[in-house]
Amino acid sequence: MFNKRVKISTLLTSATAGDQVTVMGWVRTFRNNQFIALNDGSTNNNIQVVAELGKFDDNLLKRLTTGASVKVTGEVVPSIGKGQSVEIKAGAIEILGDSDPEKYPLQPKKHSLEFLREIAHLRFRTNTFGSVFRIRHSLAFAVHKFFNEKGFVYMHTPVITASDAEGAGEMFRVTTLDLDKLPRTEDGAVNFKEDFFGRSTNLTVSGQLEGELAAMAFSEIYTFGPTFRAENSNTARHLAEFWMIEPEMAFHDLEDNMNLAEEFIKYIIRYVMEHNADDLTFLTQRLAEEEKQKPQNERSEMGLIEKLEFVVNNAFERITYTEAIDILLQSPAYKKKKFQYEVKWGVDMQSEHERYLVEKHFKKPVIVTNYPAEIKSFYMRLNEDGKTVAAMDILAPGIGEIVGGSQREERLDVLEEKMKKLGVPAEELWWYLDTRRFGSVPHAGFGLGFERMVLFVTGMGNIRDVIPFPRTPKNAEF
Ligand code: 4AD
Ligand code: MG
Repeated sequence: MFNKRVKISTLLTSATAGDQVTVMGWVRTFRNNQFIALNDGSTNNNIQVVAELGKFDDNLLKRLTTGASVKVTGEVVPSIGKGQSVEIKAGAIEILGDSDPEKYPLQPKKHSLEFLREIAHLRFRTNTFGSVFRIRHSLAFAVHKFFNEKGFVYMHTPVITASDAEGAGEMFRVTTLDLDKLPRTEDGAVNFKEDFFGRSTNLTVSGQLEGELAAMAFSEIYTFGPTFRAENSNTARHLAEFWMIEPEMAFHDLEDNMNLAEEFIKYIIRYVMEHNADDLTFLTQRLAEEEKQKPQNERSEMGLIEKLEFVVNNAFERITYTEAIDILLQSPAYKKKKFQYEVKWGVDMQSEHERYLVEKHFKKPVIVTNYPAEIKSFYMRLNEDGKTVAAMDILAPGIGEIVGGSQREERLDVLEEKMKKLGVPAEELWWYLDTRRFGSVPHAGFGLGFERMVLFVTGMGNIRDVIPFPRTPKNAEF
C-alpha cells in the first residue's frame, strides 16, 4: 500500500529513532555503494538511506542510479554523518522505475538555468526549481487566504472573450475556422459569423471588466487566473501567458486601492517567510553565489531574505507621476545622458526610469499615481485637472512594474466620452456601461502580475524560471 508512505519533509522534522517507515522518491546520488540521497520534492533536504554493505543484491544496487525512483522501508536511526540528524537503515529497497544514467540529462552537478529551461520537464527535480515552485505554491495559497480572510469573493472570469479589456490590441485569436479556407463576407473580410462563437474571439488579456461587473454586486471580488498577451517582448519580465490576480472593490478610491495593494503584497511575502524558510534560505545562498560573479558595483546591497524583511517592514514610497518625472529630470543619470529614452511630462516611463526611481533614488518599492490620461487605459478615472487619471503602478526593486491599477471611471458621461476619444467600441461593451447606468458607485482595483511577484520573492532573474512551462515568442515547448 502506497499510503503508508511518509513524506521526507515530515520524516526529517518529526521522526524519532526506532520508527519503522516507508519512503519513496527519486535518487539524487548513490555513493560508496551504500548511501542513497533520496528526494521526494517535499523539501530540498534529502533523506539519507543506508544500504548496509553485503545486505543487498549487486543487481539491485546497480540500478540505484541518479533519477531512478525507489521505495525504501527501514528503521529511522540517528545519523552520524554531517548535515542530517536522522537517516534510514534500509530493510527493503524496491526499484519503482529505472533511470538509465547514460541518458538521464540531470547529472548531480550544477547545470545552467538556460540548459534547464530546455529540459523543463525534468527541472522540477533540481533544488533551485524545487524551492521556486514550492514558493510559487505558497504565494498562490496566500493570495486566496488573504482575500478569503477579508471576505472577497473569488470570481472566475472567462478565458475566451470578445473584448479587449486593456484596449492594447495584443491578443491571441481563438478560432475554429479552417485557416486554409477562410469564409469571406461580400467585401472580402473574414466572416466570423461562421466561426464557433459567431463572432471574433480572443484569449483574455485581463479579467478586470468582468470583475467590475461582479464587484457591482458583491462589493469586493478578486480573480486569479491565466491571462494572455501577444506582445512581442522578449525580455526577462514578459510572458505571453501569465497569471494575474485582480481584486476589484466597490466603495474604494485610489488611496484605499493603494492601501489594499500594499497590505496584500506584504501579507503574501510574510506568508512565504513563515512557511518556506528552508527554500528561502537555499535561494538566498544561491543568489549570493551568483552575485559573487558580478562586478562589485552591480551587486545588490541586500541578500534575498534581508530584502524581503525590508519590504514587509517599511512603508512603500508614494509619489505622483509628475513628481517622478521631476526626480528623473533632476537626476545625475539624466544630466549625464545615461537614459536611452526621453524623459518629459507625458511620456510612458521606460523600465530604465522605473528602475532608477526604485533602485537608485528611493531604494524601496514605489507607488506612482496620477499618470497622464493619454498613456493609460480608457477605464481609469479622470482627475479634476482634466489631464491625469487616478492610476497607480507599484514598482519593485529588480522587477519594475509589479502592479497596475486605478480608480475606475464611474461617471457614465465621462466614460462614454473617453471611449469615443480612444476608439473603444461602446456597442460591444454595452454590458460594461450598464454598471454605470444602474447603481454606479466609486470603485477601484488592480492587477498583480503573479510571476513578477514570484520573481521578486525567489530572487530569480528571469521570468521563464518561475512558471513551470513558459510561453514566450517562438517558444511553446512542453
Ligand atoms: O498593468 P496591466 O496591463 O493592468 C491590467 O491588466 C489591469 N486590467 C489590472 C487591473 O487594474 N485589474 O497588468 C497588470 C500586471 C502588471 O503590473 C505586471 O505585473 C503584469 O500584470 N504583467 C505581465 N506579467 C508578465 N508578462 C507580461 N507580458 C505582463 N504584462 C503585464
Ligand atoms: Mg501596466
